[in-house]
Amino acid sequence: SKVTVVGAGNVGATCANVLVTNNVADEVVLIDIKQGLAEGKTMDIMQTANLLTINTHMVGVTNDYEKTAGSDVVVITSGIPRKPGMTREELIGVNAGIVKSVTDNVLKYSPNAVILCVSNPMDTMTYLIHKTSGLPKNRIIGMGGALDSSRFKYFLSVALGANPNEVEGMVIGGHGDTTMIPLTRYATYRGIPVSTLLDKETLDKVAADTMVGGATLTGLLGTSAWYAPGAASAAVVAAVLHDQKRVIPCSALVEGEYGESDICIGVPCLLGRNGIEKIVDVNLNEEEKALFAKSAAAVRKTNGALAS
Ligand code: NAI
Repeated sequence: SKVTVVGAGNVGATCANVLVTNNVADEVVLIDIKQGLAEGKTMDIMQTANLLTINTHMVGVTNDYEKTAGSDVVVITSGIPRKPGMTREELIGVNAGIVKSVTDNVLKYSPNAVILCVSNPMDTMTYLIHKTSGLPKNRIIGMGGALDSSRFKYFLSVALGANPNEVEGMVIGGHGDTTMIPLTRYATYRGIPVSTLLDKETLDKVAADTMVGGATLTGLLGTSAWYAPGAASAAVVAAVLHDQKRVIPCSALVEGEYGESDICIGVPCLLGRNGIEKIVDVNLNEEEKALFAKSAAAVRKTNGALAS
């Protein structure tokens, strides 16, 4: 199996590092437009091979898409990240051009690949790939909910004083500070609804912290985060490559699901070798449905900027 990661910056290199340290694929290709960057990151990562028992073959290249040929999954992380005070939506002008040209290059050599879009504004970049690539919808996945859900579980575990591995929770909707929807009602600790363990004020704070989770880190780091985004991207790659049939919230093209169509937005997706094999219908109450409709409207508005 072969995975290409486009963009050897913070998120792309971290994703590649997780893929190789966990031996997820036989071969990982890291590619970037910046001369020498992917080669350097690859050399650094592969110098941990004997320390960490890595068996993956990893290659780093500068803009040479021939080397990416025959990839099963391609992760797109190329583009600019936000700086403190910026929204993800503000990145659209620069990143749309990058994502479009990268997708064209990737598909020349890997026409059968499943594409995982990470670049922001992610829901809109995922939609752009739908509009321009001609790929079937199951093979275009946007990574956002995997990260936002992991952050949700982190904040829940802190509030509960619990092991994060024993907490379950999902974030759906758009991948934006005001558009994501932490599904507090469905979150559990060892199968117990967290709503019976935490008071409303604490739960509201967990949801609010989750929504601005990325912005908080951007403020602390001076640029956007990478460890969790890279690991979340690698988790989605593994679910597809190993046909895991895991349900992970991802940005998918909806055609009537959750009452929406013609946008890509975060919904629970059953992931397997064919990419998004099914959109799982979670029963939303009236309040959650209203939040989802509002989130969809915001995503649709951002998509509108693609045309201009
Ligand atoms: P970064 O600046 O560290 O890395 C981006 C890399 O893309 C750079 O190395 C740059 O040379 C490369 N690049 C630019 N144009 C290219 C092209 N045409 N072909 C190949 N490579 C190209 O940025 P970082 O922090 O890795 O973030 C990458 C993207 O991922 C940003 O748009 C960021 O907003 C997004 N992101 C998305 C998340 C999500 O949950 N969906 C989470 C975190 C970041």
